[in-house]
Amino acid sequence: MKENILVVCYSYSGKTRMIAEVIERQTGGTRSQIYPRQPYPADFEQLLSQVRMENRTGKYPALLPVTERADNYDIVFTGSPNWCGTIAPPLVAWLKENDMTGKILLPFFSHCGGEDKGMEQAIRTLCPAAKTGSSLYVSENGRENLQEMVRSWLKQNLPEI
Ligand SMILES: Cc1cc2nc3c(=O)[nH]c(=O)nc-3n(C[C@H](O)[C@H](O)[C@H](O)COP(=O)(O)O)c2cc1C
Repeated sequence: MKENILVVCYSYSGKTRMIAEVIERQTGGTRSQIYPRQPYPADFEQLLSQVRMENRTGKYPALLPVTERADNYDIVFTGSPNWCGTIAPPLVAWLKENDMTGKILLPFFSHCGGEDKGMEQAIRTLCPAAKTGSSLYVSENGRENLQEMVRSWLKQNLPEI
């Protein structure tokens, strides 16, 4: 158990959570999941229009108070699905509530083949004073080598663990 490592993620349909679980196992960190207070709609079109509206207006969802805060950790992994080319609003909301100054921040993303049109940039803009490492991108369709992908990404970013 590494007490200074937090693995936090938002996951709508479980793919990002699977990555978080592998990171949790390989690092011995604490895993915590972000939940919006009001669950997102199950209908895709409704979901899409809500996400677009939240991104456009900057009105991010209120969160359930079950997620760990970053305060007690030195290394924070943050995970999100790629939603419309950027990070999902619940992760934005969590990052706005947590001071990442001086922390090592390692972003990971699940996607279905789309490019990063702003995910990494969103993290850097929200957390300008964090020491942000390289991001891990995992396609939802190619997860047979997930363990190995995570292992080599960890080796690059945190060679000491
Ligand atoms: C509202 C919405 C928007 C999405 N937009 C993108 C996108 O722009 N690019 C992409 O590669 N995948 C996109 N996806 C697919 C998700 O990133 C992908 O299914 C991811 O693995 C889901 O992770 P999760 O199970 O943790 O929620 C989108 C999915 C949803 C529901």
